[in-house]
Amino acid sequence: MRKKARGGRVTEKSTATLLADRLLGQPVAKPKFPVKPGVISPVREVPAEIERPPYVTAGRVDRQRSPRLVRTPDEIERMRRTGRAAREVLEYAMSLAVPGVTTEEIDAKVHAKVIELNAYPSPLMYGGPDNPYPKSLCTSVNEVICHGIPDDSVLRDGDIVNLDITIFREGVHGDCSETVMVGEVDEQSRKLVEVTRECLHRGIAAVRPGLPISVVGKAIEDHATANGFGVVRAFVGHGIGTEFHTEPNVLHYYDPSARFVIEEGMTFTIEPMITVGNWRHRMWDDGWTAVTSDLQRTAQFEHTLLVRSDRAEILTTR
Ligand code: MF3
Ligand code: CO
Ligand code: CO
Repeated sequence: MRKKARGGRVTEKSTATLLADRLLGQPVAKPKFPVKPGVISPVREVPAEIERPPYVTAGRVDRQRSPRLVRTPDEIERMRRTGRAAREVLEYAMSLAVPGVTTEEIDAKVHAKVIELNAYPSPLMYGGPDNPYPKSLCTSVNEVICHGIPDDSVLRDGDIVNLDITIFREGVHGDCSETVMVGEVDEQSRKLVEVTRECLHRGIAAVRPGLPISVVGKAIEDHATANGFGVVRAFVGHGIGTEFHTEPNVLHYYDPSARFVIEEGMTFTIEPMITVGNWRHRMWDDGWTAVTSDLQRTAQFEHTLLVRSDRAEILTTR
């Protein structure tokens, strides 16, 4: 997801947000096995025949602003095909997330699968020359909110791990993720995962042309807070198509000032990150990994969507 720009307007806080704020700073138990940075293996090759997204060819992220946010019929067809392929990769990745496997091993297999589908793994070398993302998917374990980098860390029985797959094919991206329960998971984590999935689907159900984008965050935040969970604010859903991340910012919490109007033919992601504790994050020194500041668990689900005349169509589906 896209990192929301800092220094946004100060807006009125909802009751839910005020409640969530009250949870901040409360002492909580540290996890038994905090997630630690591991060893990251060298960058994998992509065959020269595979079409690369512009930021790889240029070695920099061009202004991620799409001149047109409404997709052409041809782009829509391509996004349907790429979205379905991304889902196929995600399902494959999920089948690999079992106790004892390293996230690095998942990356290796996912990388090969993406290439087999004649696609480019969008995360690989994304983010500009200073600190390009070095792997082909994101693996975010337990307290990792998003953008966890696959390494030699082993998945343990009882972990939850978000697998976030984005691929580029036929000139367009498809972006989706799910949180997998590894082996036997505790009750609270099960509930977190289930509610997070519901939050995504409530957000999707709120999408209608003519409405402000804030309806998405409203639906998600209402459901999360009704279940006693927090909503991450620093990372948001995004427009997607020929570019990986464009306008609009799709907030997963309610902000009445998010007045961007949804139009038929737009394509964007919804990808709520929901927390057991508070929603604040810290960044690791790797510049990518975001963890909850209280080290409590967090889950995420994501789809790429197309706005139809009466609803959102899920593009990252079978
Ligand atoms: N797939 C993520 C998203 O949902 C973005 C990952 S970018 C990476 O937008 F560089 F961190 F991989
Ligand atoms: Co995304
Ligand atoms: Co994603």
